[in-house]
Amino acid sequence: MKRDARLTIAVANQKGGVGKTNVAGNLAAELAAAGRNVVLIDLDPQATATTWALGRYSGRGTADVLLGDATAEEVLVDVPAFRIRMLGSVPEAMRIAERTIAANVGSERALSRAIRDLSADTVIFDCPPSMGVLTAAAFVAATGILVPVAAAPEALDGLVQLLSNLCRLRVALDLELPVLAIVPTRFDIRLRIAREVVDAVRALEPEALTDFSIRESVALRELFRPSRPDPHLSARFNRSRRLRTSRRGGSPPCPHRPRSLKPPPSAPCQRHWTSSPAP
Ligand SMILES: Nc1ncnc2c1ncn2[C@@H]1O[C@H](COP(=O)(O)OP(=O)(O)OP(=O)(O)O)[C@@H](O)[C@H]1O
Ligand SMILES: [Mg+2]
Repeated sequence: MKRDARLTIAVANQKGGVGKTNVAGNLAAELAAAGRNVVLIDLDPQATATTWALGRYSGRGTADVLLGDATAEEVLVDVPAFRIRMLGSVPEAMRIAERTIAANVGSERALSRAIRDLSADTVIFDCPPSMGVLTAAAFVAATGILVPVAAAPEALDGLVQLLSNLCRLRVALDLELPVLAIVPTRFDIRLRIAREVVDAVRALEPEALTDFSIRESVALRELFRPSRPDPHLSARFNRSRRLRTSRRGGSPPCPHRPRSLKPPPSAPCQRHWTSSPAP
């Protein structure tokens, strides 16, 4: 299948609260600061990214594009503080769009068509915490997926589930859709379990795991409010060298079978970048 030449990243994980929106928003702002022409598309009816960038928003946006009522260029909104443009999410409109797409076979491809002529070299989708039709629409339009994974034990089951869902979607929708990066988030180096979770992710997907983690930050929790990008996270993206447009060795084989979920008991975690010194 012909893929879009521009960098089009779906930030996705069906698990909620793992930092998808935080990563998507800050990645968009960082890539824009590096000179790229970035569009951030909020696909989540919760509209967290929209609130983050635009405050209370009730204009036209992602839902209108999904329903074919507007072109993407018509409803893009400038976000001068972050030097990006975005398609905003309005919760009620997004729920209607979601139901409409779900009821019409093939309409998950509407987003891919809608962004085809967008004047941008980078498009980032902030996906909702589900593997429903909105996430499927992002996957059809994306050149790859970035998966934030919280460094907590329950994240592993979620990751395995995500990877196996991905395999099904790749087959069903005829997609390549490589996992560009798996980013450990909310990482607390003081917690052995957090280090073990990252080691387990490494055992599962060594090629995709980034060589940095986004640390759990009280300051970030408190900073997380509309129109304020996180400076700590932005710095982390500056330091990342692992965000790639393609993955060595291609996509994982389907069906996805993890070698082992059991982490090596005393494996060090030195490759993971955190601001705290290793204990
Ligand atoms: N690195 C972090 N350190 C501390 N708190 C964080 C961090 N990342 C995210 N959070 C907190 O977790 C909450 C959820 O973050 P975010 O909205 O980015 O996750 P999400 O995966 O997009 O959630 P959802 O699945 O609901 O869309 C935020 O309100 C923030 O307070
Ligand atoms: Mg979110």
